[in-house]
Amino acid sequence: MSSPHHGILLCLVLVSAWIAGGESARSAFACGRSEAAAMRFCRRDLPIKVRVRDLIGRLTEEEKIRLLVNNAAAVPRLGIGEYEWWSEALHGVSNTGPGVRFGGDFPGATSFPQVISAAASFNSSLWELVGRAVSDEGRAMYNSGQAGLTFWSPNVNIYRDPRWGRGQETPGEDPALAGKYAASYVSGLQQAIGGHSGHLRLKVAACCKHYTAYDLDNWRGVDRFHFNAKVSRQDLEDTFDVPFKACVVEGKVASVMCSYNQLNGVPTCADRNLLRNAIRGQWGLNGYIASDCDSLGIFFNSQHYTRTPEDAVAVALKAGLDLGCGPFLAQHTGSAIRQGKVRMSDVDNALANTLTVQMRLGMFDGDPASQPYGNLGPKDVCGPAHQALALEAARQGIVLLKNGRPALPLRPSRLRSVAVVGPNSDITVTMLGNYAGIPCGYITPLQGISRYVRTVHQAGCVDVACLGPNQPIDAAVSAATQADAAIIIVGLDQTIEAEARDRDGLLLPGRQRELVQKVIATAGSHRPVVLVLISGGSVDVSFAKDDPRVAAIIWAGYPGQSGGQAIADVLFGAHNPGGKLPMTWYPQEYAAKVPMTEMGMRADPARGYPGRSYRFYAGPAVYPFGHGLSYSKFSYAITLAPTELAVRLDGRRPAIAILNSTRRVKAVRVSHIRCDGLTIPIHVDVTNEGAWDGAHTLLVYSAPPVGSPSWVPLRQLVTFEKVHVSAGTTVHVETSVDVCKGLSFADSYGIRRLLIGDHNLLIGDLMHSISLRAE
Ligand SMILES: *[C@@H]1O[C@H](CO)[C@@H](O)[C@H](O)[C@H]1NC(C)=O
Ligand SMILES: *[C@@H]1O[C@H](CO)[C@@H](O)[C@H](O)[C@H]1NC(C)=O
Repeated sequence: MSSPHHGILLCLVLVSAWIAGGESARSAFACGRSEAAAMRFCRRDLPIKVRVRDLIGRLTEEEKIRLLVNNAAAVPRLGIGEYEWWSEALHGVSNTGPGVRFGGDFPGATSFPQVISAAASFNSSLWELVGRAVSDEGRAMYNSGQAGLTFWSPNVNIYRDPRWGRGQETPGEDPALAGKYAASYVSGLQQAIGGHSGHLRLKVAACCKHYTAYDLDNWRGVDRFHFNAKVSRQDLEDTFDVPFKACVVEGKVASVMCSYNQLNGVPTCADRNLLRNAIRGQWGLNGYIASDCDSLGIFFNSQHYTRTPEDAVAVALKAGLDLGCGPFLAQHTGSAIRQGKVRMSDVDNALANTLTVQMRLGMFDGDPASQPYGNLGPKDVCGPAHQALALEAARQGIVLLKNGRPALPLRPSRLRSVAVVGPNSDITVTMLGNYAGIPCGYITPLQGISRYVRTVHQAGCVDVACLGPNQPIDAAVSAATQADAAIIIVGLDQTIEAEARDRDGLLLPGRQRELVQKVIATAGSHRPVVLVLISGGSVDVSFAKDDPRVAAIIWAGYPGQSGGQAIADVLFGAHNPGGKLPMTWYPQEYAAKVPMTEMGMRADPARGYPGRSYRFYAGPAVYPFGHGLSYSKFSYAITLAPTELAVRLDGRRPAIAILNSTRRVKAVRVSHIRCDGLTIPIHVDVTNEGAWDGAHTLLVYSAPPVGSPSWVPLRQLVTFEKVHVSAGTTVHVETSVDVCKGLSFADSYGIRRLLIGDHNLLIGDLMHSISLRAE
């Protein structure tokens, strides 16, 4: 999505003007008192399909065309008001899209942690609960005409490169984790409940974006509007597509958005293979496919993909696009029809998909107050329960990276005063990350810490960039010298990593490192120095990791409105940290070596390409994926896991490829396997050996058989379970691995294959071997 203030290109400026033009009061709801209420499309007793067909049959060509875009025009003669499709709710209802307006009874909405922080909780029930809270607030604002019901969230692109400015918006680098996040958050948002004729009723409609391989914004002169992502079928199938597929198949999302970039030379919004074949065909989307804002204008004007605008309309509609963000479809569909490039049935098919979603949302059921969720109002936004959930989510997303001695938690009774320094020490809006709304309020880190101890505050840098000679570093150092402990809060903000802004490297910006090093130098055996990082992307802080004078390091991501409280609760032991990194923290040399434009996930030693993510990159990491300490120690004992598993092939044509005859590694196409119910049960006792109660996430990885081909991941996450374990007790965890999903990989044709042989399941330090045989 491109927010209006990023109007670098002329076409984007046009989009903003277009949006501003459509901003008037929302008209009365459809199918209310008007005479239209008697028409068939208003009759709730009829199947949605029949209602949609009836409505389309009543619309003129002109009216239809003006419904193909985000600011859909009113059809007054049918009692239909205008509708703005573009609302956002990435981690709270947000006014980044024109559909949401704060003010009046709704001065703000609960701002939950940014998605990368939510992902770090590895807690799928939390994701769903946050989704429910956000859609309570969204629906409440809709009921008063201050939000739409179609939220273009979440962003589930794989966080492929650590420099990506929008990586903060995503659930990280792992496809299984991202898929689980997508399905959970979307289920929470949509809260789909029984309707008739196979169409579940929606509380709000979510949208998984940006399909696909969109994860470069602006890097060394290459921008997302011109980038052609060259992706192998293999990487597409077992990395980039995975979260989108989970979003559609498991999350039953009501919308998918195609991206700006090209995929292998074709703009994604013009690619029939992606839209009509994969999303709608194979995955069975029940919903609409939207373009990113002005995607069509961009592939026509900037990428010169088609000769005329009418050809752009035709190729997009035929590829399966249903709704355009931006004016392009409204401007050029009429002439495309007149030129014979688009048929009326193409337009009708698109409208059938968007109108079906609107009907499922109850937008043609008359007064919203008389519908489910009609009672939601101002009291349901920023209420105590939601604000408490935002704080709880922030706590769960905090990752303890290092804890020497151990230095944490700090004991307030032993500290007369604490120096709180660093450019992120007293931040408000920075804690939210991008795609935020106006929060209910803020608790800054300084405020949070001040609730525990007396503090002395010095920012040390005038801003996060921390450039130039006039940085108040000395003042920070002197504050640290005079206190019993120092907490240095540094990191990034949206001036460093954002939409349209990728980073060039992974180090702390400007003179932040110098600030940290000078404060570290004040550390003593009775004066601990703790480093807190606030950032979406990873930062190479090897110098602090390796320095024994840095007692502890915490990564707080962008923790949302109550982030400062959550950080303090962790520092002082009111919350035992349990978050884990959802992405690899690469060293700076990695970024120097790997072009961001190189999409390949798999390593290629022949040309010195190291690969991406823990699944393929075997080089050094500052901190690895899944890393995260606790104030307790947890140990595992496997109590049940089979050592053999029979894989039944469907009799028709089981093609078994022999991949390594000495090692007896064979591969079977997943489509030739009876996958139903093919799972490996795994029972593990998790013991908390420490003195602190705490939550712990059990991560189960699989490693492929020895002798597997080099394109197979080194290991991959197959399941995770988060459990709460009281100090000194043991909790029995029962989980299972879906064999066809978890243990399979794509071959170079993008065909999913299961390797037959001895797989290893890795649980902490434990390794369990399971032999798969084909029958
Ligand atoms: C088979 O596996 C062995 C052991 O890992 C390996 O050395 C050999 O290169 C593999 N052969 C092939 C054809 O992949
Ligand atoms: C997951 O999050 C929910 C919601 O905050 C919480 O109730 C639950 O205890 C969490 N699970 C664990 C194991 O911490």
